[in-house]
Amino acid sequence: MFVRTATASTTAAALLGAGALLLPADRPEAPERQDAPVVVAHRGASGYAPENTLAAVDAADALGIDWVENDVHRTRDGVLVVLHDTDLKRTTDVEQVFPDRAPWAVKDFTAAELTKLDAGSWFGTQFTGARVPTLTQFLHRVEHNRQKLLLEIKSPATYPGIERDIIQVLGRSGWLDRSHVRSRLVIQSFGADSVKKVHSLRPDITTGFLGTPAVADLPAYAAFTDQINPSYATIGADYVAAVQRLKGPHGKRLRVNTWTVNKAADAVKARDYGVDGIITNFPDVVRDATS
Ligand code: G3P
Ligand code: CA
Repeated sequence: MFVRTATASTTAAALLGAGALLLPADRPEAPERQDAPVVVAHRGASGYAPENTLAAVDAADALGIDWVENDVHRTRDGVLVVLHDTDLKRTTDVEQVFPDRAPWAVKDFTAAELTKLDAGSWFGTQFTGARVPTLTQFLHRVEHNRQKLLLEIKSPATYPGIERDIIQVLGRSGWLDRSHVRSRLVIQSFGADSVKKVHSLRPDITTGFLGTPAVADLPAYAAFTDQINPSYATIGADYVAAVQRLKGPHGKRLRVNTWTVNKAADAVKARDYGVDGIITNFPDVVRDATS
């Protein structure tokens, strides 16, 4: 998963111009050039549209970005929904619509109640009326756009059994057939037990662990996760190489997708560390800087 497009190395002859005649010993070293990392739109293209909404999925699509990341929670009545925080305050108008429901935790609201909330106007008036999508709606939009999904299980300890629920919704939405599982879906979490659970329920699904385990602990992670996805602030080239030396549960080398990289200069550094993917709010900026 997250296979990068190979970039041809610049040759010495091209650097020196046509007609240059060089003996092998005179040939300068071709400069190292990393392949372009896969670019993942973090919470959708959340620099341009309200995070985790269908508008953010479409904004990524409009930029030509295939991979979209999201965050999944569960409502009081068991519906899976897409938003980042465990409460609704920052990204909706819940305090106005339900003033007596502090602390406004997602788990305390029904899916029907969430449909009354505006999840767009906090970001910009042009997004007024955007809703908190259900996971099903989100999957349909990603599918409609022929995009790919890096699905994060958020706060799994708050939602016992959410892994099984997610797999059920993915299956019902057509996301567990061979082609989706092979190349269009990754499930990740900060919770190692949650990642393990997904792997044990559906060993064919590609998984990712969010965090930066100690190098000595990486072999244990490689038993159940295909990716180690660390914060950009925590890594360097040595760490990336240590991860990539290992093989994951599917017999392929572990991959590294780092987050959240929004500046071109940081994206270039991350690429030069050798990461496989970069998760960003500004996918066009990262793509242009690293390709
Ligand atoms: O996908 C990586 C990233 O989303 C993890 O952090 O807090 O943005 O969900 P957060
Ligand atoms: Ca996330």
